[in-house]
Amino acid sequence: MPDGNAIERLVIFGATGDLAARMLIPSLYFLDADNLLPKDLKILGSARTDMRREKFVEYVEGVLKKRPEGLDEAAWKRFSGRLDYCAADVTKAAGMKGVAEHVGDKPTVFYLALSPSIYGAVCKTLDEAGLACGECRIVLEKPLGHDLESSKAINAEVGQVFEEARVFRIDHYLGKETVQNLLALRFANTLFEPLWNNLAIDHVQITVAETEGVGERWRYYDDYGALRDMVQNHMMQLLCLVAMEPPADAGADSVRDEKVKVLKALRHFDRATASQASVRGQYRAGVVEGRQVPAYVEEKGGATDTETFVALRADIDNWRWAGVPFYLRTGKRLPKRVSEVAIQFKDVPQILFNSNPDMQLEPTVLSVRVQPEEGLAMRIASKLPGPKIRIYPVKMEFNYASGFGASSPEAYERLILDVMAGDATLFMRRDQVEAAWQFVTPVLERWEKVGVRDLPEYQCGTWGPVEADRLIEPDGRFWRSL
Ligand code: BG6
Repeated sequence: MPDGNAIERLVIFGATGDLAARMLIPSLYFLDADNLLPKDLKILGSARTDMRREKFVEYVEGVLKKRPEGLDEAAWKRFSGRLDYCAADVTKAAGMKGVAEHVGDKPTVFYLALSPSIYGAVCKTLDEAGLACGECRIVLEKPLGHDLESSKAINAEVGQVFEEARVFRIDHYLGKETVQNLLALRFANTLFEPLWNNLAIDHVQITVAETEGVGERWRYYDDYGALRDMVQNHMMQLLCLVAMEPPADAGADSVRDEKVKVLKALRHFDRATASQASVRGQYRAGVVEGRQVPAYVEEKGGATDTETFVALRADIDNWRWAGVPFYLRTGKRLPKRVSEVAIQFKDVPQILFNSNPDMQLEPTVLSVRVQPEEGLAMRIASKLPGPKIRIYPVKMEFNYASGFGASSPEAYERLILDVMAGDATLFMRRDQVEAAWQFVTPVLERWEKVGVRDLPEYQCGTWGPVEADRLIEPDGRFWRSL
């Protein structure tokens, strides 16, 4: 485990890139404004662009000023005082030399906001420059690889330089309050856990829907698609949190051990099941939130077989979950931005209140709203007031904003603090990443084989291709209306 020494340097490789501007710089600024960064921390931006420190500070100020929160003068003064810049090609030993001069022998976090294809090369130059010292940590962004093989290769290259306890693989969904609350919900209440199994639960649905398209990101996205971009990481993590056994303690490895067990228990696809249990789709022009938006191929400027929608049925072959399907769906340009985990309980027996086959009762559903309007809701059956016995579904709700007041911090804020503290609980361990790749790889291989021939389209502003309904409806179940 990394020791408790305060981190004194944070180096962002890729400091002028999209991720740094959208997530890292604002998160660091907000942490500083809340007095949460180590007192002596200096932040070194590094990228290929040649510029002086003043220019970089100006650039960071511009990034922060574009945000709706605006800049607080005192907070900016302190934050800007932490900033420095070093232009470098960090895949080359000579480039890393400049970084080494800035960092010296201080305990440092190296944040690789770069293409994963150069993670190995950067680790090598860090090592050669004497920067991979015992107190340093490295942060890696997803996607870690393109498939199981490339993921293993990246992990091996990184592992030659940094021991696993010093490697922090980000999955920003794990930094979301509502995602962390899944474990609190399950293991801080006695109510749910006795029912959290195949005796009481019919199935689980996990939805991550976005209204945004791919837009400017198509260069990256076209190479990856929704399965690699969302399912292999974020959705697998959500599935693990729902399905895992209670860990022996809250330590990083205890929690991650349990998640790996879930991934290993996932039923592996063969060629036939890969096509039966998965559906992909690509958006064509349509209307989202009242706006006419173009097709994916128009954004990309040509034909492509990249999927922007995925629906999948996953089965977990262990005692707790045998016979309980997990239905996953995610897509861009869907009607609504909403992420939800829904646990649907089994129907009550068809007697008493549920004895009329033409008016079956709606089952109990516990839904965890990951975002937006973070919270959770339980749909239960209740008697409608009146002389007759009539049963009606009602909702009990908890909403974060009204329950706790303050809005939740950005996921990246929490994750950056955890890296500084050396706490890897919310980061993906190497075996987890590889087990998740192992699960999705047969589906990728299947799609690669059929290519563009069998790529259903869906109109922007709809819930994906009709084939997604055909995935779930033959099982006698339906996607939730969200
Ligand atoms: C990223 C994906 O990891 O997550 C994006 O690369 C996606 O394609 C994003 O839009 C969604 O994150 P959030 O936090 O907005 O749900």
